[in-house]
Amino acid sequence: MSPETFNHMVYRDYKDREIMGVYQALPDSVIKLYGAIDNYPTTPILLVALLRSLPPSTTRHTWESCAEVTITNWPDIPIKPAQGVPFYTPAQSPPAGTARNPQTSGKPIPKLFKPLSVRGTTFHNRVGLAPMCQYSADDGYITPWHQAHYGGIAQRGPGLMIIEATGVLPEGRITPGCLGLWKDSQVIPLKQVVDFAHSQGQKIGLQLSHAGRKASTLPPWVGGGVTTNTVGGWTENRDPFPDNEIVPKEMTLQDIQELKDAWVAAVKRGLSAGVDFIEIYAAHGYLLSSFLSASSKISDRISTVVASRIVTGLFSKFLGLRADQGAVDLIDISSGGVHSAQKITSGPAFQVPFAAKVKKAVGDRLLVAAVGMIKHGDIAERILQENDVDVVLVG
Ligand SMILES: Cc1cc2nc3c(=O)[nH]c(=O)nc-3n(C[C@H](O)[C@H](O)[C@H](O)COP(=O)(O)O)c2cc1C
Repeated sequence: MSPETFNHMVYRDYKDREIMGVYQALPDSVIKLYGAIDNYPTTPILLVALLRSLPPSTTRHTWESCAEVTITNWPDIPIKPAQGVPFYTPAQSPPAGTARNPQTSGKPIPKLFKPLSVRGTTFHNRVGLAPMCQYSADDGYITPWHQAHYGGIAQRGPGLMIIEATGVLPEGRITPGCLGLWKDSQVIPLKQVVDFAHSQGQKIGLQLSHAGRKASTLPPWVGGGVTTNTVGGWTENRDPFPDNEIVPKEMTLQDIQELKDAWVAAVKRGLSAGVDFIEIYAAHGYLLSSFLSASSKISDRISTVVASRIVTGLFSKFLGLRADQGAVDLIDISSGGVHSAQKITSGPAFQVPFAAKVKKAVGDRLLVAAVGMIKHGDIAERILQENDVDVVLVG
């Protein structure tokens, strides 16, 4: 092997890592590639796909002109399976969404891509999928739609994903097409979505919910009005939103006890599906939010005492949190949806000031997530840096 017949080759893999190898240019555009490739095991197909440039000093061969690529000294490279999931898929290591370390630019890793560890769970970056109803469940059950939807996003590597509002009771769903976890048989399809996310090395949580007076609506694509009982609704449980829309039905103390039991049961079901965390939906005028809102009517306020006990009891079940603390790890700040008279002016990052204010108040005691029209990575990074919040969620 004389030095003349070898050239240095530089190409980059799909994560922009620089990989060096040597190749030998032979007559008739044949390139013989030797196995001494730093950093990365590879295959001829991968090389063809990934080759970007050859150093100027080398003989220029484009891969298109190659009649043949021969690799010698094949190393034994096992493809590792993903661990902890009940099916085979190649392990993703590191998972999609992991920052290159060090960065090719030589600059520090942006905060957006700095891992975040919470109680032994590490999220590999700080951009998460906000929970978003898909209105595509069948009697509360996950369907192939959800598998495709969450699966596709899991492949793209957010630091965390939050599965949409999932009713703890059938009448707690926002629409008849919303997810539910009020019976044990709803766990297995949920687990399939969770397993897939885990197979990609991703973290996935679940938002549990009760829609309260805003239940029994239609999905937005048909206008979001009331779902009547004729088409699967349950308007007898609905309080007016907007006011005077439907005659209200107030919860009794027994209803509240049943609700509390339903929450705890749903948390347990979620954990048995393997979710990494649970988010309690207490925003947007749904049940817990209406209990806690100053705009609620007197009877609601009386219920607040009960509601706060419910919440404390729930948090104690929250991924092993201690009951005496009644604490949460992260609060995800959103606004609106409490009263039809609210006039919200939305725009880029319009809710970030709320998250910033909360972060200022809670400091290191609580992680804070900002959400709402955060559409670009550089804006997300600025939000994290300038407002000291910990996570950015996008929908
Ligand atoms: C179709 C749709 C469904 C939503 N469903 C939920 C939900 O289930 N739970 C929730 O907390 N927020 C829900 N939201 C609010 C989103 O989580 C998020 O806060 C909002 O979309 C703002 O973020 P974005 O501007 O990045 O989309 C929903 C929003 C949309 C557009």
